[in-house]
Amino acid sequence: MHLPRLHLPTRRDGRGATPVGVDFGGSGIKGAPVDLAAGKFAADRVRIPTPQPSTPERVAEVLVDLLAQLPEAEGPVGVTVPGVVRHGVVGSAANIDESWIGTDADALFSRATGRTVRTVNDADAAGLAEVRFGAARGQSGLVIVTTLGTGIGSAFVHDGVLVPNSELGHLEVDGANAEARAANSAREREDLSWEEWAERLTRYYRTVERLFSPDLIVVGGGVSKHADSFLPLIGIDTPIVPAKLRNKAGIIGAALYVS
Ligand code: BGC
Repeated sequence: MHLPRLHLPTRRDGRGATPVGVDFGGSGIKGAPVDLAAGKFAADRVRIPTPQPSTPERVAEVLVDLLAQLPEAEGPVGVTVPGVVRHGVVGSAANIDESWIGTDADALFSRATGRTVRTVNDADAAGLAEVRFGAARGQSGLVIVTTLGTGIGSAFVHDGVLVPNSELGHLEVDGANAEARAANSAREREDLSWEEWAERLTRYYRTVERLFSPDLIVVGGGVSKHADSFLPLIGIDTPIVPAKLRNKAGIIGAALYVS
C-alpha cells in the first residue's frame, strides 16, 4: 500500500516563509525566492554554472552555495530536474548524468541543505507556473505544456491539477523518439529552417492532439521567444500559444510545487 509521505513541521521546515524555486538546467542552476501571491521573484535571481559532470552530489553542493547567496529566503525549496521524478526519486536521465537514476533527490538535497526540499520534473514545474500565472491561466480542461529545448518536456494539467511525468518528448513519431527529431536541439544540430522545423513539430503535435485531445497546448523553452517565426506554421486544430513566463517558469513552478 502506498502511504503519502508526511512533511512534519520542524524548526528548519520554513513553512509559511517565502519559498525558493531552483531550476537545474544543462548550463546553469538558477534560483530565486518567489512571491506566490504575485507570481514573481521576491528578490534577484542567483545563477551558478552547472558542474560537469552534473552528478547528484555536485549539484547538491551547488544548491548549498546557491541558498547561501539567498540568506533572506528561509522557506522550503523546490528544485526542478530534467527527468522523471516519483516521490522525490529520479527515474530517468535522458539528458543528464546517468547516476541520477534511482537517486532520492528529495532526501539528498534535504540532507545537504538542512531544509525541506522537494524535487519536480522541469516541464511539470513550467506547466504549473504557466497554468497559475502564465499563458494557460483560467483555462479549464486539459492543458498540455511542452518545453522545446535539448529535449522535449511535457506537463499535463487538468483543471489546475498536475498529472506528473507525462514524458511526451519520448512519444514515437514517424518511427523515432520525438525529441530526437523535433526538439530545439535537433533544429540547431541539423540547421533546420523555421519551416522545416515546423513540419516536424506539426507531426509531433498532431500525434499529441490525436492521443490526448487537449483544450490548449502551450509551447515553452528558450526558443519560445521566437514563437512568431514557427508557431503560426504548425498545422494543428488545437489552440497553441507561446509560454508567457519564459525562463522564469521553472523557478516559479518549483516554488509552487513545494508550497
Ligand atoms: C526528459 C524529461 C524532461 C525533458 C526536458 C526529456 O528528455 O525525459 O523528463 O522534462 O527532457 O528537459
